Amino acid sequence: MTEKPTFYITTPIYYPSDKLHIGHAYTTVAADAMARYKRQRGYDAYFLTGTDEHGLKIQQRAAEAGLKPLEFVDGIVKGIKQLWQLLDIEYSDFIRTTEPRHEQLVQKIFQKIYDQGDIYKSEYSGWYCTPCETFFTEHQLAEGHTCPDCGRPVQLAHEESYFFKMSKYADRWLKFIEENPDFIQPETRRNEMINFVKQGLEDLCVSRTTFDWGIKVPFDEKHVVYVWFDALVNYLSALGLGGADESKYQKYWPADVHLMAKDIIRFHSIVWPIILMAAGLPLPKKVVAHGWLLMQGGKMSKSKGNVVDPVVLVEKYGVDAIRFFLLREMAYGMDANYSEEALVNCINVDLANDYGNLLSRTTAMIEKFLGGEVAPGSDGTDFDAELLALAAETPANMAKYMDKVDIANAIAEIWKLVDKANKYIDYTAPWTLNKNGEVEKLKTVMYNLAEVIRQVTILISPVMPNVADRVWQQLGLDAAAAGQDWDALAWGGLPAATKIRRGDPLFPRIDWEKQLAEETEPAPVEPAEGVVAPAIEPIKPEISIEDFERLDLRVCKVVACEKVKKADKLLRLTVQLGPDEASQRTVVSGIAKYYQPEDLVGKQLVLVANLKPAKLRGIESRGMILAASFGDQLQVLQAPAEILPGGIVR
Ligand code: MSP
Repeated sequence: MTEKPTFYITTPIYYPSDKLHIGHAYTTVAADAMARYKRQRGYDAYFLTGTDEHGLKIQQRAAEAGLKPLEFVDGIVKGIKQLWQLLDIEYSDFIRTTEPRHEQLVQKIFQKIYDQGDIYKSEYSGWYCTPCETFFTEHQLAEGHTCPDCGRPVQLAHEESYFFKMSKYADRWLKFIEENPDFIQPETRRNEMINFVKQGLEDLCVSRTTFDWGIKVPFDEKHVVYVWFDALVNYLSALGLGGADESKYQKYWPADVHLMAKDIIRFHSIVWPIILMAAGLPLPKKVVAHGWLLMQGGKMSKSKGNVVDPVVLVEKYGVDAIRFFLLREMAYGMDANYSEEALVNCINVDLANDYGNLLSRTTAMIEKFLGGEVAPGSDGTDFDAELLALAAETPANMAKYMDKVDIANAIAEIWKLVDKANKYIDYTAPWTLNKNGEVEKLKTVMYNLAEVIRQVTILISPVMPNVADRVWQQLGLDAAAAGQDWDALAWGGLPAATKIRRGDPLFPRIDWEKQLAEETEPAPVEPAEGVVAPAIEPIKPEISIEDFERLDLRVCKVVACEKVKKADKLLRLTVQLGPDEASQRTVVSGIAKYYQPEDLVGKQLVLVANLKPAKLRGIESRGMILAASFGDQLQVLQAPAEILPGGIVR
């Protein structure tokens, strides 16, 4: 038996500092669709994703939550894996950078590069963006000393560091890019990267000493390896390089595609290849950058508070529709605007109208005109040849784009066939053939349509992995729909005399206006019978601005909470108003009727911080938690997660 060709594709490994949003999901869905497509084409496809768990950002987030970094990331990683399951992501492996198989390889590569003199000790003096975990020189910064990538303030860093001699490899890198013009995709990114390197490549700071959540530099334990040097190595450590069994490395490396969004192309197309050159390892074949999913003109990101939760969307619209929308909407290398209205429009037009309706019309006509049985007739129509020619050509047209990881255009090629089939119905007018008793022609038309639907379904199933089962059911096919590969595309795969089984629409139409009205109209709050709505409390007498300014309102994080014994109204909270334990204090609050202690732990609240301490049930309470209340209802006021504890509320 000949060995299958291999295909190794990776996504970036995600920072487990927060829940992932639909923008993150785009890359993973795209890589999953690519791997499924390659498997359909007979490849042994290996698809890697994972999490990037070290670095200052994670250390800080864990401290804010009052947890050890590993405990903190464990919870988030679990959520990320659940999200991938929900989105039908079939990864081959999930690497975590805190695993020993990864840490040992990072240390080995670091040591090797150091031993050969390409890593040296010096002093770092410059700017650091913690959310991006990226160093910048003064002239790279945006206005007001902010990060040129995310716009947030950067911090000045002065510390002893190890440096990687990237500059030494600049010419070799340029030569490599010249000899491998397809290495960086799309071409616009390639040109950007070439210009960047031509302007002069600086050595990269690859260790930190001001925090310790990272992989130790093997020969100098005071230092931890810079998180990007650490993270990039995941693509190799997941394959077992440097471990007891290197068979996966032998089989799959070099990677065929590293897929990511444009913001991290520099690390993947410049830093990573140079690390590999220095380590004497083969370079990946392609680095492909897609655009960003934007919300109202800006990049979807947690810090902007404009994120869309994929879990909510999947529950509302189904996983296939979400995957299809993401992959169809993002044109190759370009940004795409996200809006729920655009999503609904895509479901209504592409899925319900074009594809779903093609199936419903076809099965309805087979039922009505042919007693539910489909088989080619002995006569055809003038329109058959064109439909069959497009059906024969579509797989190659689609493949041309898939092989460039241009999934949006690949889908567009499939949809040309869907459109053609819909027009074929209009041109051949089966209802007229039926009326005129042209049964053989009618049979051929219906068979051609059912066969095109079968083909379209095989081609689109890497994007929508669950439709094939439903379509197979309706077409009366008993063979397993899953894993249909490209051999099954041969024309005539639909057996003669198949009994179709009509079913529900594949994608029901959504009435956007109605849905919007239902969602935006606040449900009327009517007091239950016999209950009188509470009166609005009168506004208190005026105070001066000076009076108000005497109040010190602070963001505080609840690190612990428990019920106060023998006091059913009181909770005892330990809140933190700064980066460490020294800023913790106890507050007793009369909110036990509304909250269980565990509901509050981890939340950021607002505290009146300069209220004179008072003793409640023998416990000294230092401050008061703010809450909003009306009648019987009460909810604590939550401060945004992005404002660190101790932040002022004005
Ligand atoms: N941990 C690094 C990657 C290390 S890889 C060796 C990192 N992680 S991240 O969680 O911040 O984001 C990773 C990726 O998420 C981006 O490259 C991109 O693939 C995806 N996206 C994050 N936000 C996105 C959008 N708004 N739109 C599209 N993709 C987005 O960077």
